[in-house]
Amino acid sequence: MRRPLVAGNWKMHGTRASVAELINGLRQQVVPAAVEVAVFPGSLHIAQVVEGVAGSAVVVGAQDCAIEAEQGALTGEVAASQLQDVGCRYVLIGHSERRTVLAESDDWVVRKFAAAQSCSLVPVLCVGETLAQREAGETLAVVGRQLDCVISALGVDVFSKAVVAYEPVWAIGTGLTASPQQAQEVHAAIRARIAAESGDVARGVRILYGGSVKAASAVELFGMPDIDGGLVGGASLNADEFGAICRAAGS
Ligand code: 13P
Repeated sequence: MRRPLVAGNWKMHGTRASVAELINGLRQQVVPAAVEVAVFPGSLHIAQVVEGVAGSAVVVGAQDCAIEAEQGALTGEVAASQLQDVGCRYVLIGHSERRTVLAESDDWVVRKFAAAQSCSLVPVLCVGETLAQREAGETLAVVGRQLDCVISALGVDVFSKAVVAYEPVWAIGTGLTASPQQAQEVHAAIRARIAAESGDVARGVRILYGGSVKAASAVELFGMPDIDGGLVGGASLNADEFGAICRAAGS
């Protein structure tokens, strides 16, 4: 039985004041213990959030980490070991905004994934196709390739301590959501790809859906057999809306 996970990616949002308010709102949410809740603030605010959610069930993740696991001369980057030290449990790897806007390569995604795990962080590997790729019928090939990079470099067993997030690029921040059936098709393909290497790993790995998830769409999405929760952007900046999405994962 996979424990549902709802993750809030705050992206490049927040000030000390707005983060304090959001923490306060999150602490008031009642979420069934069966659902794991994680938030991913920008790195400036990680320490504030770790402190602010202490004593609650909410865990904290980072939105990225450096290709090197340990501290060193790498201006502007944050090492996985530093994220672990400050209290992170998770780290997003290969978010599409980084792949496209910052030209993050598959090679870097693999190195970041490995760096995270070497510091006992749980990587959340983000995969997904663009609209042009979907329209060209390439969705499963694109997502399969993004997954294969990690499997071929690091082996399938790394997914026993990782999470996959399927985030169709065309659904991110656009208000367009993949239908539950569209999402399920891709989630099932991701699980099948992993199952081809290891049935046990495939049965255990959590696969989250991301892309304009709202409370209103969450119940149906999370009701699909291979959707184990969500990676939520915009809606995670509103504590009540995010709380409602978390509760939907427990229904
Ligand atoms: P939105 O929920 O704002 O579409 O963002 C999804 C996302 O990119 C989460 O990582």
